Amino acid sequence: LLTKAKFIIMKSREQSTQISNILVVGSGGAGLRAAIEAKMAGLAVTVLGKRTKGDVHTVLAAGGINAALSNVDPEDSWQQHFADTYLEGYGIGEPRIVELMAKEAPDLVEEIDRWGANFAKLENGKIDQRYFGAHTYRRTCYSGDYTGRSILMALLNKANDLNIPIHDSQYVTEILVRDGTCFGAMSFNIKTGERTVHLADAVILATGGHTRIWRKSSSRRYENTGDGFYLGLKVGCKLTDMEMVQFHPTGMVIPEEIAGTLVTEAVRGEGGRLINGKGERFMNKYDSKRMELSTRDRVAMANYTEIIEGRATPNGGVYLDISHRDKDFILEKLPRMYRQYLDALMIDISKEPMEVSPTAHYSMGGLVVNPDDHWTGIEGLYAAGEVTGGLHGANRLGGNSLAEILIFGKRAGRAAADRSKQMDVHLRSKSVIQAAQEKIDSFIKQGSELARPLQRNLRNIMWDCCGVVRDQDKLKTGLEKIADLKKVIKDVDVRLDSEGCDDLVLVFDLEASILSAEATLLSALERKESRGSHQRSDFPNSSESEKVNYRIHLDENHQLKISRHNIQPLEKELQNIVAGTNEINNFEGKLIE
Ligand code: FUM
Repeated sequence: LLTKAKFIIMKSREQSTQISNILVVGSGGAGLRAAIEAKMAGLAVTVLGKRTKGDVHTVLAAGGINAALSNVDPEDSWQQHFADTYLEGYGIGEPRIVELMAKEAPDLVEEIDRWGANFAKLENGKIDQRYFGAHTYRRTCYSGDYTGRSILMALLNKANDLNIPIHDSQYVTEILVRDGTCFGAMSFNIKTGERTVHLADAVILATGGHTRIWRKSSSRRYENTGDGFYLGLKVGCKLTDMEMVQFHPTGMVIPEEIAGTLVTEAVRGEGGRLINGKGERFMNKYDSKRMELSTRDRVAMANYTEIIEGRATPNGGVYLDISHRDKDFILEKLPRMYRQYLDALMIDISKEPMEVSPTAHYSMGGLVVNPDDHWTGIEGLYAAGEVTGGLHGANRLGGNSLAEILIFGKRAGRAAADRSKQMDVHLRSKSVIQAAQEKIDSFIKQGSELARPLQRNLRNIMWDCCGVVRDQDKLKTGLEKIADLKKVIKDVDVRLDSEGCDDLVLVFDLEASILSAEATLLSALERKESRGSHQRSDFPNSSESEKVNYRIHLDENHQLKISRHNIQPLEKELQNIVAGTNEINNFEGKLIE
């Protein structure tokens, strides 16, 4: 009789081959939108996801998606959306990417609504729009506080209608590249260990970011571990702006097991107030005009400052209070937050405030891509969503990332499909596939270390050495500690047992997270100024000479190398837009009292 453990070990030695035109790695919103576009172009598409479809990180995106529809504030325009995004990114975003996002968001938001996202509507039937931090006008479309989930479900239904295969529990270990051309990917099944070589004309990476590697994070286990950055770096891609990590101002403080879980900005958009442990509403000290609806970097710094200066709540946070709104309003606009606090802490937020503090939330840096088609520079390899850099610069406006996944998922899917249609000869390299097999084999062995505590160490290092406020000493300490972690990874105990291949997932994730952490620390050390989400106590001001992007790649010796990259200047039309909207952007907007 075959035991389950023996079955898994046997399966892990099996290898199958799967062929499609387009392979999408990642089954979140960006991946699905890319897959839909390629499929609608008539191609064979396969999607691989680590998690169960329908329970990917996109479901955690809560408060909304931005588009200058002008449904609530007729003065809004794509130009104003461009200016808000570009200026609040502190001028280091890629202008063309910002322009495409601002121009195309209205069409794609209306499309996803038609596909079933079912956004909240005004009485006239148009999509409702709420305030989100640092947007000049109300332009955030929403479904309660579960907008990501609504969008994901609409995408899944569409993918289902189009018969797009989505394979769950697939862990991608390698992008297959020979002589600068990508021809597929290697994966193993997390539950059975079975390996698959996926051959494809083009691969789209839609794997998310790396914010799970901070101790307090709005990502769950096995999400946002930096695996996409690692896969890209290993085949020659470049990363940009890795130091730009967004700390969302409001993560849960307790209970410890879920500390960092997101408390959506929609709470502040619907009138929530921040109050310190002394009972003072404090945002007037940090941004007296925009108050709680200031930019995320400013609100995060404000919360952080109140906490470290000794005005924290009993559990070490600040209060976020929406209890002046009545319960029906809260249940309509913020149903998930209501349940979250009730389930975790037995707190009724219509009666009591929430305790919150900053949490690592979003990787604004990522793979360098061509703005228009999101090509990575490796033939046949495209990317979309949080794994890419360029849109957000040094500070992301809430609600822009859901727009990003639809717009650039679509664009990457279209570009990958165009490439596939033009191809005549298909590459397949036995030696590259063999090397990918050997990489997996090399991890499966007995050892003296366990991956899970090493991951915990890494998360502590990143929180302590590369958190909301950084300095040279902390960053250097972080790099030294990472170097120690790198040494022990070869001693990690990896076994395939009756429970599946968790150890193997953890060790690959650990390697990816360590590389992403190192890239982040190096970039943060290099940027000797404070700008947006990158705050350095030893360089508290921003500096004109640092108005550059820091890019990072692996050299021929597999060492990370950093380089300065000049900012793309704004074209005349965009310069005029920024000049014309600057005054409004400095905020004359209305606040909810
Ligand atoms: O706070 C939020 O609902 C987050 C939105 C976002 O990050 O875009």
